[in-house]
Amino acid sequence: MIKSIKGTRDILPPESALWSRVENTAREIFERYGFAEVRTPIFESTELFARGVGADTDIVSKEMYTFEDRDERSLTLRPEGTAPVVRAHIEHRLQQETSIAKLYYLGPMFRRERPQKGRYRQFHQIGAEVLGSDNPAIEAEVLEMLQFFLRLLGIQDQTLLVNSIGCPACRPQFLEHLKRSLAEKKTGLCPDCQRRSETNPLRVLDCKVESCQPAIESLPKISDFLDSACRAHFEKFLGYLASRQVAFTIVPRLVRGLDYYTRTTFEITSGALGAQNTLIGGGRYDGLAEALGGPSTKGFGFALGLERILLVLQDRGNPPDPLTPQVYLAPLGERAFDTATLIAKCMRENGIRCFLDFDARSLKSHLRLANKLGSLYALIFGEVELQAGNYQLKQMTNGEQTTLTPDELMRAAESSGQADLRTSILKALFLARSTYHF
Ligand code: HAM
Repeated sequence: MIKSIKGTRDILPPESALWSRVENTAREIFERYGFAEVRTPIFESTELFARGVGADTDIVSKEMYTFEDRDERSLTLRPEGTAPVVRAHIEHRLQQETSIAKLYYLGPMFRRERPQKGRYRQFHQIGAEVLGSDNPAIEAEVLEMLQFFLRLLGIQDQTLLVNSIGCPACRPQFLEHLKRSLAEKKTGLCPDCQRRSETNPLRVLDCKVESCQPAIESLPKISDFLDSACRAHFEKFLGYLASRQVAFTIVPRLVRGLDYYTRTTFEITSGALGAQNTLIGGGRYDGLAEALGGPSTKGFGFALGLERILLVLQDRGNPPDPLTPQVYLAPLGERAFDTATLIAKCMRENGIRCFLDFDARSLKSHLRLANKLGSLYALIFGEVELQAGNYQLKQMTNGEQTTLTPDELMRAAESSGQADLRTSILKALFLARSTYHF
């Protein structure tokens, strides 16, 4: 039997309904804050990520799904969304249209990491990018939006961690000190950190290995090396967060796994998650557009892991939205089934979730299935009832059954105002009878 690939997952009902709820909430809130959706291709030229994310990062050096196309061009399944969005922004000259571009995206990303809870090889991100400004007020607004979004989903257990990692003008001095200090502490570091001390010393600060922590604690802090412009930017950012009442914790060793960041970086973590506890990561990337060959365009954004949001929601027993039928049609006999197809059409056109099975069934078997599906009502009719224009409507929750007459259907159709579910069913049935003449 052919099975799904390690590190990928099928998202099945009813879990898929919870996914939709998170996606719909993101769309609604992000659009309220002025973001518009962008959809970029799933694969891009490999160079985009090598130049954008950084050749020395774990993502580019060992986690990308890269392959040669038939014309020997190197392509890569996108491991993240920022570089593609910035590429699209440059390619379509979006900065000429408005002062800033606010774009959001959602979709699958691919990284060949070791799968574990909350970490997959195909995972899904919802992200947003603001392009065209280096104002720290934008950063605070985006974080306010994220906290609102999480609160709406009912995720209270979350912490915002912030830091500044400086800019290309002040970071070199810090890196020099860091390298010197790392050389002294090399023996206390894990093999990965010993290698990173040479290739990408900032990443050592992010190491989670227990035995590395004492050495990491004693390394220099980037905050002591920020130049005056970066320090002023960071202080303004913190001030804006405070005035918007967005709670935060400064973590001087917070660095991120992608090379494009400058100045502000942040993560939102949740205690409900265990080892892979980062729900959302992001920051400023003022040099990325130029690194990709475009005009200088400042940028700030974030991406959240949908699987991780789902883990938190499921952990707290969040029930998926029920997509059970509102009415189950129980036709008895072949002619009744034909009429039922028309009733179903009319119900669905009028906003009612209606279920019609295709097998011939006895009444008992119909009701068993209606129960199993969790339907709220069952509409029962055979050929005799159709002739007389009478239908049985059974409320599945309490078993109460009433006979619907043509008069009652007419009264429901003539009623005005907000209709309850029962009246809506009656109205749709009336409409089906008058449209299809049965
Ligand atoms: P990132 O920190 O690499 O940042 O990923 C953002 C989020 O994606 C993580 O916090 C996590 O929730 C989720 N994630 C990452 N890898 C996996 C995985 N293997 N399995 C499940 N979830 C995962 C970025 O991707 C940047 N592009 C964010 C950004 C946007 N920065 C500025 N703008």
